[in-house]
Amino acid sequence: MEHYVCEQTELEERKMYYVALEGLEIGVILVNDQIHAIENTCPHFEGPVCLGNVSERVRMRMDENRMSEGDYHSKEEVNVVCPWHGFEFDIKSGECIADPQFVLRKFNPQVKDGKVYITI
Ligand code: FES
Repeated sequence: MEHYVCEQTELEERKMYYVALEGLEIGVILVNDQIHAIENTCPHFEGPVCLGNVSERVRMRMDENRMSEGDYHSKEEVNVVCPWHGFEFDIKSGECIADPQFVLRKFNPQVKDGKVYITI
């Protein structure tokens, strides 16, 4: 069933917007101009994952000899970090970075006439 969430203009980059639908808590977030919606239940021990920090993945820069040249923040790869045990999840795929067996439940937000909807 399709549910109205909010006006598209209410969403701010990397700021979680919360909604309760059909008994589920869902976090809706704008990241790099894409809207994502995830259940606020961590697949590890059901922590409130949407309350965690949203941050760019830190990658190592390597030279041609595979020696480290320091790190950098990847603007294309953004993670949400569960506040309970620190598991990091890719906001696009929902997969846990350290252990892909843990995957966030995601929904597919739709924008119609400037309004955001989620189907559950
Ligand atoms: S409950 Fe989220 S990392 Fe453990």
